[in-house]
Amino acid sequence: MNKPQIHARSTAWEPSPNNLEPFWMGFTPNRAFKQRPRMISRAKDMHYYDMSGRAVLDGTAGLWCSNAGHCREPIVEAIQKSAAELDFAPTFQFGHPKVFELASRLSTMAPGDLNYAFFCNSGSEAADSALKIALAYQRTIGQGGRTRLIGRERGYHGVNFGGISVGGMVANRKMFGAMIAGVDHLPHTYNRKEQAYSRGEPEWGAHLADELERLVILHDASTIAAVIVEPMAGSTGVLPPPKGYLKRLREICDKHGILLIFDEVITAFGRLGHAFAAERFGVVPDMITFAKGVTSGAVPMGGVLCRQHIYDAFMNGPEHVIELFHGYTYTGHPIAAAAGVATMDVYRDEKLFDRARKLENMWADAAFTLKGQPMIEDIRTIGLVAGMDLKPIEGKPGLRAYRAMETAFHDHGLMIRISGDTIALSPPLIVSENQIDEMFSAKLPKVLASIA
Ligand SMILES: Cc1ncc(COP(=O)(O)O)c(C=O)c1O
Repeated sequence: MNKPQIHARSTAWEPSPNNLEPFWMGFTPNRAFKQRPRMISRAKDMHYYDMSGRAVLDGTAGLWCSNAGHCREPIVEAIQKSAAELDFAPTFQFGHPKVFELASRLSTMAPGDLNYAFFCNSGSEAADSALKIALAYQRTIGQGGRTRLIGRERGYHGVNFGGISVGGMVANRKMFGAMIAGVDHLPHTYNRKEQAYSRGEPEWGAHLADELERLVILHDASTIAAVIVEPMAGSTGVLPPPKGYLKRLREICDKHGILLIFDEVITAFGRLGHAFAAERFGVVPDMITFAKGVTSGAVPMGGVLCRQHIYDAFMNGPEHVIELFHGYTYTGHPIAAAAGVATMDVYRDEKLFDRARKLENMWADAAFTLKGQPMIEDIRTIGLVAGMDLKPIEGKPGLRAYRAMETAFHDHGLMIRISGDTIALSPPLIVSENQIDEMFSAKLPKVLASIA
């Protein structure tokens, strides 16, 4: 790449030829991508379109976020209106109507007394916000010794320091130093021998929640502030929770005064057929983190839903004094809040969570037609999610799935997501039965044949 001289930079405003080099892409092999880019220029409903206008079926709701489908008119209009009416207003010491409206909507949709919404701009910020609120809560109620945070192996809670500390995906952790202190991990819940080809929650594995008792014995409950888990681990390759596991975690947390945080950045807003996975699994955590689907991916937004007792604990002291020293410039950004309200309208008006629930069986049947394909080692489904483990190429972990993603996009017009050698599918909730069929009967068998 020819770089302009430093002194020439100030005049370098002229259009330059397209150059893929300067964008350092995250979570992407830059050199491979830039040799054979997968460029997307437009999206509508269930499809992306590449630069030539070729349609690509969205098997992943973008990045687990476009649950209402792409460029939906009511959401687009709300964004346009907000951009013209109120581009920005602070939510420190000031407010604007849409953010209160969205908080009210979410608090009504959330189970139990998860009545309060804190907002941020991403899932990573949501995870770190929840961890900070947990620590501050414990201190506020006179339990300041509770500083330890418990995550889980194979967990993903975004990329900020709190999130990678409690997270359990080694590649996301190993390059980044010592992380935050005082963290421990539960074991992950996947065991292929016991659970292979499970539909929904696997029968085996509830006892793994008892590992929390072991950590309590090791560290003493008086040092533990919170446990954070994804109700269904998504980014690590789709691990639905074993039957009864989350209830056990709840019971153990209650017994020891430990807060339970569900990271629902992927599972909220219909992915598992309910507004929140907490509802599906009949467990009310103390906090729920969300992002992605809150705006159907159209504008960055994340947040934390908190139970009444958490909010109440902070509402003391002189009334003019700030209660929580945490927040972001773009907390509850007006355009994101407007997109969020419009997105909740679409979910409600089109009954998209019910739709996901109704499609779940058909989706699982379709996914399981791939059982027996020579490259497939396991399939897991729940809600409108499917994880498929591919046989790794010896000595080259991840390469088989990378090839699958490339050929799916370039040759078969399908967007899939990969994690290691696992394919993860999670289409927008507007997906039709025909499109599910197209995915599993027409496109994926060809993809699998070409990577064999
Ligand atoms: C469970 C979970 N938490 C947090 C995040 C991070 O979200 P973001 O990429 O918006 O920071 C993700 C992203 O996939 C996620 O799946």
